[in-house]
Amino acid sequence: MSLPERVVLVGPMGAGKSTIGRMLAKELGYRFLDSDRIIEERCGANIPWIFDVEGEGGFRLRETAMLDELSGTTATVLATGGGAVMRAENHPLLKKNAVVVYLKTSIEQQVERTRKDRNRPLLQNEDPEGVLRSLFAIRDPLYTKLADIVMFTDRKSPRLVVRQLVNRINPKTPRHKRQRRKEGREHVQGPQRAEG
Ligand code: S3P
Repeated sequence: MSLPERVVLVGPMGAGKSTIGRMLAKELGYRFLDSDRIIEERCGANIPWIFDVEGEGGFRLRETAMLDELSGTTATVLATGGGAVMRAENHPLLKKNAVVVYLKTSIEQQVERTRKDRNRPLLQNEDPEGVLRSLFAIRDPLYTKLADIVMFTDRKSPRLVVRQLVNRINPKTPRHKRQRRKEGREHVQGPQRAEG
């Protein structure tokens, strides 16, 4: 099996999509893109501001447009927002030329990892754990349906998750070949703005 054009990471807030995505991209010699960060760059505003001014609906429209734009990229690991699976029209955009990876994470881990976060508007309320639970009930079946690989992340270091993912995505390519590919790519200027 050869490497897919894109690896797309889906999963809830606090699943580690950005951390794992950045490390995985490095390992594969791919560029890392984070759809939320690019939306923020383009808007010149952060996600809480977009939710405040345009509502969640406005943010979702921007998210779909961004996923559409990024669906044409190659040699990319893409981290998506936790709600990217909510609009059916996003599904083909997520799947296009991609291996979709669901980073599956317990509610306890999600709560722990998002506890101090102020950048996620959906969790700025009295009961963030309750919100994470209801979102999980709705979204887990969608993540699972879309995923080519479901990877549990609880009690695993990001490094271990990345190692397991590389083996699942491309078990046949030995490490030295991945390294050579990586070195080759470092000489290629990508058109996209890489995050991180
Ligand atoms: C959201 C998740 C966030 C961000 C926005 C909405 C969601 O991304 O897109 O706050 O609906 O779950 P992360 O999953 O990267 O936190």
